[in-house]
Amino acid sequence: MTVNVDMGTDPAGKTVPLDLEELLATRLLVQGNSGSGKSHLLRRLLERSAGHVQQVVIDPEGDFVTLAGAYGHVVIEAADHSEREVAKFATRAREHRASVVLSLEGLEAEGQMKCAAAFLNALFDAPREHWYPALVVVDEAQLFAPAGGGEVVEEVRRASLSAMTNLMCRGRKRGLAGVIATQRLAKLAKNVAAEASNFLMGRTFLDIDMARAADLLGMERRQAEAIRDLQRGHFLALGPAVSRRPLSIKIGPVQTSARSGSPKLTPLPTAPVADIKNLLLAPVEAMLPLGPPIRHVAPPEAVEAAIAAPPRPSVAPDLPERSADETDGIVADVLRALVEDEGDQQRAAAVLYQDFDVRCRMVGLPRPPLDLPAFTRRLACARAGIYDAPDEEWAQALAIADVLPDDMLGAFMLIARAAREGRPCPSEAEIARTYGTSSLGRVKRMLAYIEGRDLMVCRIDLAGKRSIALPHLGWTTEAAEAA
Ligand SMILES: Nc1ncnc2c1ncn2[C@@H]1O[C@H](COP(=O)(O)OP(=O)(O)O)[C@@H](O)[C@H]1O
Ligand SMILES: [Mg+2]
Repeated sequence: MTVNVDMGTDPAGKTVPLDLEELLATRLLVQGNSGSGKSHLLRRLLERSAGHVQQVVIDPEGDFVTLAGAYGHVVIEAADHSEREVAKFATRAREHRASVVLSLEGLEAEGQMKCAAAFLNALFDAPREHWYPALVVVDEAQLFAPAGGGEVVEEVRRASLSAMTNLMCRGRKRGLAGVIATQRLAKLAKNVAAEASNFLMGRTFLDIDMARAADLLGMERRQAEAIRDLQRGHFLALGPAVSRRPLSIKIGPVQTSARSGSPKLTPLPTAPVADIKNLLLAPVEAMLPLGPPIRHVAPPEAVEAAIAAPPRPSVAPDLPERSADETDGIVADVLRALVEDEGDQQRAAAVLYQDFDVRCRMVGLPRPPLDLPAFTRRLACARAGIYDAPDEEWAQALAIADVLPDDMLGAFMLIARAAREGRPCPSEAEIARTYGTSSLGRVKRMLAYIEGRDLMVCRIDLAGKRSIALPHLGWTTEAAEAA
């Protein structure tokens, strides 16, 4: 008997079922530009299969934590735990067959990779008696299995890539079925992408991604042009679990309670959510020693092959040459648009960088004009309202701030800007917004941290107003109410 997951409708309005057991055996790759509807698609799949199979979601942006309410997933906020704890939670999730969301929100790129690697390795290393079938959904998979190097420490990249390679290449025997989504196929390690036999391709702008999608779908490039014009929520599907030939699907709505099909997979345990949660999240310190870690690494050849893969070919350079000024102008506009679009929902620079890359190319810059570290700095400036390329004085401010963690840069630059322009000291609420928090306590701790590094001096005058001086730069804000 089969469990069919109703994913949506074909152009004739007919339901398109996804065969869950087949999916467990053959894995799924979803690709589409930011906003094409990948996360929505994953959510549809998760909601519609929730009663039938254990689900594990690696969630870089905390998008899926809302599954907890309606479907009982246990949320693990990675930022609140050590790597060791996160690994232990994964082991317990295997043991208790609990559906979980590992939210990596709030971690920097490297932290996200380390944490995902620890978690995936522990899923993989579970003892044989716990090898139950589970969907392992990884959104923005290119973050964890990047095709190229250079943006994070090599050791971290290898660990994360190795864990993803294990999931996709060797997970099946252990019951783990990888479902991965990426906005940039060309940025996803080839060996990881190649292990999926099912594809859902959404709107794709860049030729290089489209070419790789066409290769995976076994389509002529010309035929594959169709995926450029797909609308949000529309995907081209192919693979043993969904359709033997490319089929256009409109993904249906999410948050519906109707569940189709009858379960063939063995029933999940029926323990109340609260119990499962307690089982999984019990403090790790209180437990007996964990025993030596078992480390399964992906076959060295596979990792080597992925690491040594030749650099991705560059797009044909028939784009107009831009002067440095023109490029600066475009970068400033793109940064402004990024910051305006994100509102108060700040995302990690590493996540936004992909979006930045695509936006730059869409307006005709052949390659991203900034690398990730430079982008991180410019993003911080943009969040402080400085969009143009840093002049000499801003460059000095940035150089001084080099000792600060990336997530404090924006707030520092906001203060630096007020100081340089001799304007009133920004309020704690303004600083909080730039820092991506609503907690004034966090703001106070951050200011104390920066002050502790001698980068600035806060002074409260007799009227209780605060001014901040940046002694290295000789700039000082006007005094203003702090609260
Ligand atoms: N099939 C769909 N039906 C209705 N709304 C959709 C559909 N797919 C995506 N959306 C909406 O479009 C927006 C972007 O989708 P999202 O899944 O977040 O894109 P991505 O993950 O590819 O960046 C979201 O607001 C989402 O709710
Ligand atoms: Mg998404």
